Amino acid sequence: RAMAIVKEFEEKCGTPTGKLKQVADAMTVEMHAGLASEGGSKLKMLITFVDNLPTGNEEGLFYALDLGGTNFRVLRVQLGGKDGGLVNQEFAEVSIPPNLMIGTSEELFNYIAGELAKFVAQEGQDFQLPPGRQRELGFTFSFPVMQSSIASGNLIRWTKGFSIDDAVGQDIVAELTRAMERQGLDMHVSALVNDTVGTLAGGRHSNQDVIAAVILGTGTNAAYVERAQAIPKWHGLLPQSGEMVINMEWGNFRSSHLPLTDYDLALDAESLNPGEQIFEKIISGMYLGEIVRRVLCKLAEEASFFGDTIPPKLKVPFILRTPDMSAMHHDSSADLCVVGNKLKSILEISDTSLKVRVVVVELCNIVATRGARLAAAGILGILKKLGRDTIRDGESQRSVIGMDGGLYEHYIEYRKCMENTLKELLGEDVSESIMVEHSNDGSGIGAALLAASHSQYRDGY
Ligand code: BG6
Ligand code: GLC
Repeated sequence: RAMAIVKEFEEKCGTPTGKLKQVADAMTVEMHAGLASEGGSKLKMLITFVDNLPTGNEEGLFYALDLGGTNFRVLRVQLGGKDGGLVNQEFAEVSIPPNLMIGTSEELFNYIAGELAKFVAQEGQDFQLPPGRQRELGFTFSFPVMQSSIASGNLIRWTKGFSIDDAVGQDIVAELTRAMERQGLDMHVSALVNDTVGTLAGGRHSNQDVIAAVILGTGTNAAYVERAQAIPKWHGLLPQSGEMVINMEWGNFRSSHLPLTDYDLALDAESLNPGEQIFEKIISGMYLGEIVRRVLCKLAEEASFFGDTIPPKLKVPFILRTPDMSAMHHDSSADLCVVGNKLKSILEISDTSLKVRVVVVELCNIVATRGARLAAAGILGILKKLGRDTIRDGESQRSVIGMDGGLYEHYIEYRKCMENTLKELLGEDVSESIMVEHSNDGSGIGAALLAASHSQYRDGY
């Protein structure tokens, strides 16, 4: 019975090349629809007001706040201008107290502004701004925001584990600014960016071939550089560059081609945001371990997989975290002792047989493989939209995709599978000119760079 359940799950999670190509095509179609009109697609294709990416000429002292991953970060970056590069960079990292993720807007922003104030209070004389100048900040806020300018925008809704009702619809920069005032912190938000947009900007600073950025972390999303003329819903002036960065919010992509199982549907129905972020719920770090837990639960209930009783811990939602799943997946010991230890320490299931452990690893593999292959299909969708998925006029354009996020950084099998699948989908010739590059901490630096290029003092002071 257990094997039948696993086999059925594996079949339902299948991502043969043909299916992935259908997913990529559907992604391209939805991208067009989302660019055509507001509400035209599940893909919001948000206009970011970033129409110029970093050139390397940015200089000065800037701050960045990065909220929306597992951790919350504050950075100070000294930008050295043309040949100076990034002279100095320092950061503090704190995890967000879980109660603040579901509390009130004021509580969350007070906390953030408080951490920022602490960071500033600790800096020494080396970090003085010219007299009379306000500190300037790039705010990386990794949730869907309807921007009205580079430094303002209203929260559309929360994703991942956040749910703070009174912040929805509010201008996030105004919320942060008010909280900074309450802390007596004199700082000006010069740029509000999504983490994908920050990663794109940070990546472009070191490599001019970067055309898109993807986050594979707690959540998943992508941003890319679009031709302004290819955005029918944009009614503003055409930017001089002719370009506009689009935050796709691809986590909310949905298509009949996605291999969804009953476990995914149940996870979705019981989530904080049912019916939303379906792509995210089968790809990203917040959910992969939870999917495995759900299958293990079914195995325990219907096939007495762990003996006559169902281990109570197995019933606790989100108890099996993706980093633990990753550790089990990578267990190379002959008796799968890492798997044994994790089952014991997390789920309080002791004395598991090798047979049981093998099945657990198999489940991790099925879930990670599906996620990684679908992420690759999403990237193919973007490349198709840009016409970079084939060789044109005998030449292929070099395209670099900046990547970041805990899943990509730490889940090696996932990362390998995603990269191999992209090669498989593109074919050998094209894949030579498409590179995936880790943009380490790019989003914070990117936000600081965008704060610099949108500084209130940029035209002289
Ligand atoms: C970080 C980026 O490396 O990855 C953040 O700098 C981003 O901006 C984060 O939000 C996402 O990863 P995770 O795993 O923390 O969700
Ligand atoms: C979620 C957010 C999105 C963010 C992504 C990665 O999908 O909605 O804005 O970019 O997570 O952090």
